[in-house]
Amino acid sequence: LTEEPPSTDLITLTRHVLNDQLRLGAAATGDLTLLLTAIQVTSKFIATNVRKARLINLVGLAGETNVQGEEQKKLDVLSNDIMVNALRASGKTAVLVSEELDNAIIIEERYRGKYCVVFDPLDGSSNIDAGVNIGTIFGIYEVRPDSKGTIEDVLRPGCEMVAAGYTMYGSSANLVLSTGSGVNGYTLDAALGEFILTHPDIKIPPRGKIYSFNEGNSMYFYPPVTAYLKSIKYPSTGNPYSARYIGSMVADVHRTLLYGGIFGYPDDRKSKKGKLRLLYEAFPMAFLTEQAGGVATTGTKRILDIVPTSIHERCPVFLGSKDDVKDVMKFYETEP
Ligand code: AHG
Ligand code: MN
Ligand code: MN
Ligand code: MN
Repeated sequence: LTEEPPSTDLITLTRHVLNDQLRLGAAATGDLTLLLTAIQVTSKFIATNVRKARLINLVGLAGETNVQGEEQKKLDVLSNDIMVNALRASGKTAVLVSEELDNAIIIEERYRGKYCVVFDPLDGSSNIDAGVNIGTIFGIYEVRPDSKGTIEDVLRPGCEMVAAGYTMYGSSANLVLSTGSGVNGYTLDAALGEFILTHPDIKIPPRGKIYSFNEGNSMYFYPPVTAYLKSIKYPSTGNPYSARYIGSMVADVHRTLLYGGIFGYPDDRKSKKGKLRLLYEAFPMAFLTEQAGGVATTGTKRILDIVPTSIHERCPVFLGSKDDVKDVMKFYETEP
C-alpha cells in the first residue's frame, strides 16, 4: 500500500483567479481579484455565523419584511449587512443590489470602484432553522463605459456579467465561481481560512437522472410543465427519474451542476412570473450553468438574454443538463 504525501502546492481561489487574470494580460488590473477577495471574506464570515447560529441566538425571524413581502430571518439581515459593509469597503464597487434591500445602493465617490454586485445574501432562508444547506449567490457587472454607477448598470442582460458564483454552506463551505471561462469549485479549508481548488472545470453531464421541482405546486402548473413531469415519471422506455428537492436554490443547483438532471421553478397560475429573482438568483445560476455546458431557459427563451426592467423582478427557471432542459423546451413548443 503506497500513500501519497499531502500536497505542498495548494491552489487557492485567489491564486487561481490571479493566474487567470495574468493570462488576460494588459486588460486585467487585478481589481476583479480584489473584489473576489472581499467576497471570499464575506463567505467565511457568513459561514461561521451559520455554523454558530443555534448557539448565538441567530435562528428565527428578524421582525421585518423585505420588499418581496417575505419575513426576514435574522441570518438574512446579518448576511446582507456583512456583504454591504465588505463590498463597500473593498473600494471596488459602484452599485450594489441585494434581495434584502428595497433599492440599489449607489456607492459614494470616496469608495467607488468599477464593479456592480447583485446578490442574494442568504439563499434558502426557510431551511436555516433545520440546519439544511443554504448559501449566498452573487453576480458581477462592470459599469458601462463612462458611467459612475447608476441603476442602469445592473438593468442589463445576464450574459453581460463578468463573473458569477455562489457559496454553499453545508458540511463544508463550497464556493463555485465562473469568470467567463468555465466553472471552478473551491472548498474552504477552515484551518487555513482559504478556499482551495477542489472541483476544477466543472462540466454538467449532458443528461441526468434527477428532477428537482416543488411538486407541491402541481395544481397550479401549466400544461407544458405537467406534461414534461409526466414524461419523466412515466417514461415509455427506460427508468423514471429520481426526485430531489431541497428548497435552497444553491443546494439544488449545486447538485445539478455535479450530478446533472434538471432544476425547475416555473411560472404557474399562482406565481405568474415564477418565484426566483432574475438579477441575483436566475442570472448567476444561468451564467454558471451555461459555463458548465448546460442550458438555462424560461421554457421559451434563454435566461441570460432577458433585459431586466426592475431590480427585484422574477422569472421562470429551468436549468441543468443540456438534453434534459431541451426536453422541457419541446413541451413548450408543442403544448403551449
Ligand atoms: P430566499 O431564501 O433567498 O428567499 O430564496 C428562496 C428560494 C430558493 O432558494 C428556492 O429555490 C426557492 O425559494 C424555494 O421555494 P419553495 O419553498 O416555494 O419551493
Ligand atoms: Mn428571501
Ligand atoms: Mn434565494
Ligand atoms: Mn435570500
